[in-house]
Amino acid sequence: MWLAAAAPSLARRLLFLGPPPPPLLLLLLSRSSRRRRRLHSLGLAAMPEKRPFERLPADVSPINYSLCLKPDLLDFTFEGKLEAAAQVRQATNQIVMNCADIDIITASYVPEGDEGFLTPLGGTRWLEGLELRISFTPEIHATGFNYQNEDEKVTLSFPSTLQPGTGTLKIDFVGELNDKMKGFYRSKYTTPSGEVRYAAVTQFEATDARRAFPCWDEPAIKATFDISLVVPKDRVALSNMNVIDRKPYPDDENVVEVKFARTPVMSTYLVAFVVGEYDFVETRSKDGVCVRVYTPVGKAEQGKFALEVAAKTLPFYKDYFNVPYPLPKIDLIAIADFAAGAMENWGLVTYRETALLIDPKNSCSSSRQWVALVVGHELAHQWFGNLVTMEWWTHLWLNEGFASWIEYLCVDHCFPEYDIWTQFVSADYTRAQELDALDNSHPIEVSVGHPSEVDEIFDAISYSKGASVIRMLHDYIGDKDFKKGMNMYLTKFQQKNAATEDLWECLENASGKPIAAVMNTWTKQMGFPLIYVEAEQVEDDRLLRLSQRKFCASGPYVGEDCPQWMVPITISTSEDPNQAKLKILMDKPEMNVVLKDVKPDQWVKLNLGTVGFYRTQYSSAMLESLLPGIRDLSLPPVDRLGLQNDLFSLARAGIISTVEVLKVMEAFVNEPNYTVWSDLSCNLGILSTLLSHTDFYEEIQEFVKDVFSPIGERLGWDPKPGEGHLDALLRGLVLGKLGKAGHKATLEEARRRFKDHVEGKQILSADLRSPVYLTVLKHGDGTTLDIMLKLHKQADMQEEKNRIERVLGATLSPELIQKVLTFALSEEVRPQDTVSVIGGVAGGSKHGRKAAWKFIKDNWEELYNRYQGGFLISRLIKLSVEGFAVDKMAGEVKAFFESHPAPSAERTIQQCCENILLNAAWLKRDAESIHQYLLQRKASPPTA
Ligand code: BES
Ligand code: ZN
Repeated sequence: MWLAAAAPSLARRLLFLGPPPPPLLLLLLSRSSRRRRRLHSLGLAAMPEKRPFERLPADVSPINYSLCLKPDLLDFTFEGKLEAAAQVRQATNQIVMNCADIDIITASYVPEGDEGFLTPLGGTRWLEGLELRISFTPEIHATGFNYQNEDEKVTLSFPSTLQPGTGTLKIDFVGELNDKMKGFYRSKYTTPSGEVRYAAVTQFEATDARRAFPCWDEPAIKATFDISLVVPKDRVALSNMNVIDRKPYPDDENVVEVKFARTPVMSTYLVAFVVGEYDFVETRSKDGVCVRVYTPVGKAEQGKFALEVAAKTLPFYKDYFNVPYPLPKIDLIAIADFAAGAMENWGLVTYRETALLIDPKNSCSSSRQWVALVVGHELAHQWFGNLVTMEWWTHLWLNEGFASWIEYLCVDHCFPEYDIWTQFVSADYTRAQELDALDNSHPIEVSVGHPSEVDEIFDAISYSKGASVIRMLHDYIGDKDFKKGMNMYLTKFQQKNAATEDLWECLENASGKPIAAVMNTWTKQMGFPLIYVEAEQVEDDRLLRLSQRKFCASGPYVGEDCPQWMVPITISTSEDPNQAKLKILMDKPEMNVVLKDVKPDQWVKLNLGTVGFYRTQYSSAMLESLLPGIRDLSLPPVDRLGLQNDLFSLARAGIISTVEVLKVMEAFVNEPNYTVWSDLSCNLGILSTLLSHTDFYEEIQEFVKDVFSPIGERLGWDPKPGEGHLDALLRGLVLGKLGKAGHKATLEEARRRFKDHVEGKQILSADLRSPVYLTVLKHGDGTTLDIMLKLHKQADMQEEKNRIERVLGATLSPELIQKVLTFALSEEVRPQDTVSVIGGVAGGSKHGRKAAWKFIKDNWEELYNRYQGGFLISRLIKLSVEGFAVDKMAGEVKAFFESHPAPSAERTIQQCCENILLNAAWLKRDAESIHQYLLQRKASPPTA
């Protein structure tokens, strides 16, 4: 019997969950020298103390969960019935489980006796005088539920001892369909006729299954699940497995009970259910899996792109891993309110609408690419994560780093024209290096306990550094042996759990190379090396002298005990720029290398393909010889990108002067490659933000215009015949950059096209919308902002709403900035998107930066409460404060969060403060020389 759906009085506790910033959201930061002392004096370097934490006792564990849930989509409550087949290993009279924000009504344990005889008190009962032994099932009712709210646990106490053996734990409970986008929560949507309704959906990773049902919520405590949902009969009900039964619910003809097939053995964080109104498109993949993409009602068409990608991806992974997808179906579903980008629940992958839906006319090229990457990522987890799961969250990087690497392999397979591996370098590799150069970074493998510590490591280290070191490893091992090792790992540990060492062992067996020794230097210590290299011509050969030191954002490491890495290094020359002439494993602090037969006029470059996770500093002579390769494009694109990025970070670290880098940037006049431009543009954006603290901001805008005008003129506004995906991305990037910098011709054309768009004369192509919106807003007035807000209201697609939300912060006047900030918290903006509106304001202008910070302080309680801590709070803080470049702001930020704690953002806050100090030092060090250079350039412009 279901209990009356009274709203439970739930013990509210703050908890958090969180993903990494999508690669698209790049707002960055900076660096400087001799910082470390300063950080210590501000008390910024030490991480706060760890919260006490204990894993669940191992005396009782689940074998199968039989779980029935009945959500109430009007009252936002749910009732649950759990019958868990459990194994008692050690006699006990209590069971400790995870449980949060749930009220248990009754709990009992029914032991199962040996050979079918059930023994109540540990003994077998005999009926006197009878030869017959009878069995019975004494239900032991729990007499106490002791909630440890802080620990998100409940201890069920029983009046008698539960003996070793198996039995069934029965729990009836009630909970709330919360609005915090975690656990079992409600998501708001509007029907095609305009009515507001709610769906009930789940997000359990990392530690929120315990908000939907009492469970052993740890990744290594695997079990099977029999799930049923009791739902209104006109709603779609989905879970990990296929439906096996659907029957009327007693006493209510509007309700049905939907029963799903038993799952394989799996972790709790991968369980999912969805109840709502959806349409779908369906296909069967080459390997026989039924694939569906669920969309909002009336938008099935928008699921077709993801459906195609998924149908291609499943067989790709099956071949790559040589292990079939183990479930009969996979659903991909777009959820309106969704905190992360997507979640890999086994057989029922959930996505933000913008990570799944593509409209042939209204979606831009970067959205398509994003959808392909996210689908590739989540489907990879179906093997790597779901079939084989990390033993504990310390090994989260195995899941996320691996999926973040192989999503590129998969997209490269499906869409070779995206040149996606070059994009990997600017999206993941450089982003990881930027974070990992901080004193407040952390090793890839990091000991974590409390949920807020777990949430904290869904960051660029686990994702982007993890993916980067796997890319380096794959290159070092070679694809054939890498695949062999992967297959070994997935076969050996299927349905089980594994740790980092287990993967190394398999790859070591497959390749015969010292994988653990090499990789431990990358995953167990934070940071990465700066390789210094100088060369000498010795007759026909080139002698290279290499040395490694830890690279810090404040300059090379200056201590005695400098960490060391085992670095796979490749070396190429101008004779064949795409081929490694030599590969070595640098396993010492210093090494000499002889390159045979290299003519004196040939250049020599390290790190072919920018695959090794290190930065390179060349002697001036070597650098000098490489620069013509940028201008004449003889260096491969990803090498041009890597070289520029290394130089930029060396300048931020005070190792070379920023003016040197500006000169190198000018050498990119002939650059045709989108990704190379994108990375350069990103760095120029960082520099612009820094110089917005000076009175020569306009001069750097002139520089931006000069660098981008030639490519802008070459591209024009309209696609030319034969152009593809990357041309569309490049055009959007360049026009946006020119428009933002106030390039006159671009601004005029943007205004003209915007007017035609608004008047319905000529709708802007999807790829031109972001740059045009940004340009007209930045150089517009209140009327422009009002038009944008109107377009936002009218937009039917979330992609278009997000597009607008992200550029609103470009507006310049203080009143309009305030209006945008107020809008960020309004009903018009989905809760997960508030962060990008406020972040856009902070990154949009000097005044915006101050206004956003004030807004966060003034509205802290509401913002914190909205996300209950969680990764969105980290992202909000990062986007909003890391643009500061004045020492005292680091102290102010630190002080604010001391009195307004955000546990899952602690490390982010430390990183932000460090970045602020680094910015300030950079500015002090280089502002004057940059200014002089820009003035002198203006007086006598360089000839291309
Ligand atoms: N497992 C994560 C989802 C997640 C993130 C759960 C953070 C809990 C906390 C999922 O596989 C993922 O990584 N999603 C990414 C998208 C991906 C393409 C990088 C995300 O949500 O940003
Ligand atoms: Zn993932």
